[in-house]
Amino acid sequence: MSKGTFYITTPIYYPSAKLHIGHAYCTVATDTIARYKRMCGYDVLFLTGTDEHGQKIEEKARERGVTPKQFVDEIVEGKGGILDLWQLMNISNDRFIRTTDDYHVESIQKIFKQMYDKGDIYKGSYKGKYCTPCESFWTDSQLIDGKCPDCGREVHEAEEEAYFFRLSKYADRVQALLETPGFLEPASRVNEMINNFIKPGLEDLCVSRTSFSWGIPVTFDPGHVVYVWVDALSNYITALGYANGKYGDFEKYWPCDVHMVGKEIVRFHSIIWPAMLMSLELPLPKKVYGHGWLLLEGGKMSKSKGNIVDPYLLAERYGVDTLRFFLMREFPLGSDGNFSNEALISRINSDLANDLGNLLSRTVAMVIKYFDGTLPKERRGEPVDDELIGMAGGLRDVFEHSMENFATQSALIEVFKVISRANKYIDETAPWILARDEANRARLATVMYNLLETIRITVTLLQPFMPESCEKAFEQIGASDKDRSWENAGTFGVLDADVTVRKGGTLFPRIDMEKELAELEKMNAQAAIPAVPPVTIDEFAKVQMTVCKVLACENVKKSEKLLKFTLDDGSGIPRQILSGIAKFYEPEQLVGKTVVACTNLPPRKMMGEESNGMIISAEKDGKLNLLILDDAIPAGALLC
Ligand code: MSP
Repeated sequence: MSKGTFYITTPIYYPSAKLHIGHAYCTVATDTIARYKRMCGYDVLFLTGTDEHGQKIEEKARERGVTPKQFVDEIVEGKGGILDLWQLMNISNDRFIRTTDDYHVESIQKIFKQMYDKGDIYKGSYKGKYCTPCESFWTDSQLIDGKCPDCGREVHEAEEEAYFFRLSKYADRVQALLETPGFLEPASRVNEMINNFIKPGLEDLCVSRTSFSWGIPVTFDPGHVVYVWVDALSNYITALGYANGKYGDFEKYWPCDVHMVGKEIVRFHSIIWPAMLMSLELPLPKKVYGHGWLLLEGGKMSKSKGNIVDPYLLAERYGVDTLRFFLMREFPLGSDGNFSNEALISRINSDLANDLGNLLSRTVAMVIKYFDGTLPKERRGEPVDDELIGMAGGLRDVFEHSMENFATQSALIEVFKVISRANKYIDETAPWILARDEANRARLATVMYNLLETIRITVTLLQPFMPESCEKAFEQIGASDKDRSWENAGTFGVLDADVTVRKGGTLFPRIDMEKELAELEKMNAQAAIPAVPPVTIDEFAKVQMTVCKVLACENVKKSEKLLKFTLDDGSGIPRQILSGIAKFYEPEQLVGKTVVACTNLPPRKMMGEESNGMIISAEKDGKLNLLILDDAIPAGALLC
């Protein structure tokens, strides 16, 4: 019998070619809670997806020479894409939404119109700092040294026609919602929202753009596309069938039980999203949970700093369950945590190999050794058993309390307290001594049974964290279906008295820390050299590299970057090449030098001047050197 519905969501991800372990963190946390709720008997709907519109995607697609849809398709559905990653991480989402899905587009257009008809969306003008070459508006805080954060060029004040959402109208109601206990968690984030956003006064939100076209068109005003956050946030209801015919379970699952989100997007979920729902006159989500970030050496995880953060690589080396467990055990969900490979290996060794792995393999091995794998039914309890039985029997309730508060780390700490206690129980009862005397048969069977029961209960509770490993552990201890249930995790003594165990492989092999870290370092060094596909010798031979003497060199007018070279390439006709190296060389110092240029590139115009080739230089970490040869080599010589 279902205990009711439970609707849980992750944010929908930007299609980014390089997903790191920090991205997986949010989805693994949500998956763990979804699996836990299913185990408890809820009818769970777990939604995740991708957020595919916006200027950034449009630009990246243009750079690659593909359409935005082709670009996102590859990242979402292609090999090694987002769907592949979630499959690898054993994510049990029930639904996956892409904001380019037709039904979502249809809903967004209706939602936008509905808010417009209500008078909550109105036309105004958007003012901001505009970078003309990038065709982008920026806010003051996004600028870097007052310049465009993308290209570093000057920006200027500009205005464009845009639609606005009357966010200000809902300020009081949103504040009351934020102050409702349990709506925004952890509670520490409530003050941050109220002090930083509500108190200074909520401004109306710009909800359409005309400066790019990769978005959902506003039906009643062509040229405008819906601002990405309105498009993205609404996924939580469109994926249930709100304002579309694709799904029909909006009534069943809405309002959402919890939106799991990273801390940087709490504002969108706890202020803007509820205000939109108020405008649509829909029920509000019951909870927004803002988890912390995984950091690398204190900084955001965008770039690897000597640590391996590629979830594919990590899962391949250590196993998916191990990785999932580490993420949930090492860091308290609501706070930031520092990721390191060392912490990962150390956690695998201590909790999984030493504590759980050892308990399981020792117990199964002893039952096989002393009873040929099947326990006799005789029992003889002793007072030393009581503490373990009490802890294991009461574990489910303690665990439940933590999980209900999203304290996944505490839940695991509680489970591992019982596992440690069981390992200590082995030392206290010394089964190898009991085994020496046939008269102790009932006592030895009792000790073994208590250990198997403790394993059964702890493994049942660990299922949402490590689904596949728990399955294997259950097989080893001979647990039947009834033994694996949430209901029976609250009772000690459920396994059949004459249970039969089976020897299985080592679930969590120990890792040699020193060797492994050295290995990872080697991998990192190799990864630092970008991998490019190989070329054939014929392809290579097509590139003509010619030795040239610099006859003249000057700055290109109005360009900070370009130098104009006049070169003797041995042909008798001077060759003009432009090169973006003005930052690194004074033009005069290059006259007379012998350089190398690629001379069979098609001509190209830059700043109104023609360039016929490319001068070869080497660049790393912001330093650049031209390839300069010995003067003895004549102009026109070809590189071979
Ligand atoms: N597209 C928006 C969300 C729209 S929801 C209506 C977005 N996407 S994202 O791809 O940038 O981020 C997705 C999730 O990954 C966010 O919850 C974000 O906090 C999380 N993480 C990204 N890097 C992270 C870490 N280093 N650590 C933990 N979570 C991180 O935001």
